[in-house]
Amino acid sequence: MDYAIQYFEKIDSTNTYLYRLALQGEPEYSVVFADEQTAGKGRRGRSFLSPKGNVYMSFVIRPNRPIDTLHLITPMVAVAVQEAIEELFQISCGIKWVNDLYYNKRKVCGILTEVHPMEDGTAEFCIIGIGINLCNDDSLKELNHKAGSILTLNSVDLEIRKALCIKIMDRFRLYYENDSMDFMNRYRDYSILIGKEVTYITQSESRTVKVVNINNNGELVVDDHGEIFSYYDGEIQLKNF
Ligand code: BTN
Repeated sequence: MDYAIQYFEKIDSTNTYLYRLALQGEPEYSVVFADEQTAGKGRRGRSFLSPKGNVYMSFVIRPNRPIDTLHLITPMVAVAVQEAIEELFQISCGIKWVNDLYYNKRKVCGILTEVHPMEDGTAEFCIIGIGINLCNDDSLKELNHKAGSILTLNSVDLEIRKALCIKIMDRFRLYYENDSMDFMNRYRDYSILIGKEVTYITQSESRTVKVVNINNNGELVVDDHGEIFSYYDGEIQLKNF
C-alpha cells in the first residue's frame, strides 16, 4: 500500500505536528515519520525520550464514531506493531496492557493516541503516535532503567525503518478496516500479563492482583483475592516476568 509519508530528520513531536495538519483537513492514513524528536510526548503528560535513529511515527485516522467506542484502537495498534516487528526482524515482543511493547523485559515501544473531539461526541480525528526503540542507545538505558531496544545494532538504515513504518500501517489497516474482533485474540496471545501476579496502581491505591484475562472491551480482568474486577485504565507493575 502507498502512503503519503512526510519525513523529518528532526522534529519536536510527530504527534503535535500531525495534529496541526489534521485540524486543517489532512486525510486519513497520512503519516509523519522522524529520526529524532526534541519534545516527544508520552501518555499521562509524560515526555518520551526520542534519540536519533529510531522509529517515531504518527498517522491520522478519521473514525467518525463516538469517542467512547475508540478504546480498542490502541490495542489494535499494539497488535499491528508487534506483528510488523515480527515479520521484519523475526523478533517477538510481548504486549504489556494497555499499550506498551516489551522485549527482553524492557519497554521497547510506546503508543499514544490523541483524539480530537467534536461537540456531538464523535471524534473528528485521532492521531496515533508510535515510538519504537530499534537501536541500542545508551542514553535510553541511563535515563530510564526500564527502556531497552529491539536490536543490538547501533544504527539501522532509514529504508528499513521506513519499511517497518509501512508494515505497521498495512497491518493496522487490515484490522481497522475489518469488523472482526480477531485482533483481540492476538492481543491476548501476545500479552505478557495474563496469568501473572502484578501490582495494579492508581492515584489512590496500589494492590497485588492476578491477571485472569483481557476482555473484548480491552479491560484487564483480575482476581483480587477471590473477587473478580475489570479495569479499563491504570498502571501495572510486573513482579516477576
Ligand atoms: C508512552 O509510552 O507513554 C507513549 C509514547 C508515544 C511516543 C510516540 S513517538 C511518536 C509520537 N510522537 C510523540 O510525541 N509521541 C508519539
